[in-house]
Amino acid sequence: MAKDSIIILGIETSCDETAAAVVADGREVKSSVVASQVELHEKYGGVVPEIASRAHIEQIYPVITEAIEQAGVGKDDIDAVAVANQPGLTIALVVGVTAAKTLSFAWQKPLIAINHLHAHLQSAMLAEGELELPAVALIVSGGHTSLYDCESPLDLKLLGSTIDDAAGEAFDKVANILKLGYPGGPAIERAAANGDPNAIEFPRSMLSKDSLDFSFSGVKTAVLYHCRGQDMKGENRVDSMTDREISDIAASFQAAVVDVLVKKTRRAVDRIGAKTILLGGGVAANTVLRSALAKMCQAAKPPKKLLVAPKQYCTDNAVMVASLAYYKYRAGLFAELNLEPKATG
Ligand code: KG4
Ligand code: ZN
Repeated sequence: MAKDSIIILGIETSCDETAAAVVADGREVKSSVVASQVELHEKYGGVVPEIASRAHIEQIYPVITEAIEQAGVGKDDIDAVAVANQPGLTIALVVGVTAAKTLSFAWQKPLIAINHLHAHLQSAMLAEGELELPAVALIVSGGHTSLYDCESPLDLKLLGSTIDDAAGEAFDKVANILKLGYPGGPAIERAAANGDPNAIEFPRSMLSKDSLDFSFSGVKTAVLYHCRGQDMKGENRVDSMTDREISDIAASFQAAVVDVLVKKTRRAVDRIGAKTILLGGGVAANTVLRSALAKMCQAAKPPKKLLVAPKQYCTDNAVMVASLAYYKYRAGLFAELNLEPKATG
């Protein structure tokens, strides 16, 4: 392996995926290993922090070992160890942070701390295509819905974020109401494919005229009312609904969320005169969102560039961590061995 490239081991344990990856020069993926915990959390309809933490402890060593083996590198080839240390579940993050600190100390390699959300944005930069500035980044995940003014991988300014539920959280909760299973996003998308997005007019909360913040609790509650009646006294009618009725609700809900995400992104684009839109995070895997944003970009005058995270790097992974770490490495932004996990970020 040519040693003029910078090779970074990335580690990710912020929520319910234990992941490790080896990436060269921020773009060349040598390996990517993700151990999903979906089956462990499924029966609870959401992530249980203690279960997540225990599973990370079990998985972290085999996942890192596999990532290094698959990449065909030895510890001497690795230039730095990077870890997502915020935001996320503290008792989950601490597992990755401890592993990264241990390797950094044992191998005498620099440690790099990564913000998980900024890493999601970085995964959009793994898409083919050149980043023309200024750029607006939309990060839509289970825990966050945020718009950024993006100057470079390391220079991000928050323009707006959700004031209540995140977009992915709304997908998960509505899937729960519709009894479609967990995680909700892919289940809603599958059900919606057979439904009419115009069947039910669910609310689109735009907040004030200039706001770049989001609110998704209203649309989620509207779905609940739709299923249980306005006074919420009725039983959830989902069990007696036809597949078509459920698909119509899923499609109409999805359309309402996508509509708001696209309109707010457009607002942000106009605000900063953006030439490019970056899309990342778990909800970025949604095909309807991807094509609605693509349509908006084509219709804009002049048209905007759209960089969407490749599907395999939309949900949590460590490639995005190792990729962003490359820019921090080049900038000499290293962490100390007393690095701690942080729930917020
Ligand atoms: O980024 P991610 O893996 O974890 C967080 O950082 O939160 O995002 C997970 C979220 C979940 O809420 C999941 O339901 C949602 O992304 N999601 C989707 C789709 N695939 C995953 N939402 C809508 N459509 C999808 N196809
Ligand atoms: Zn995430």
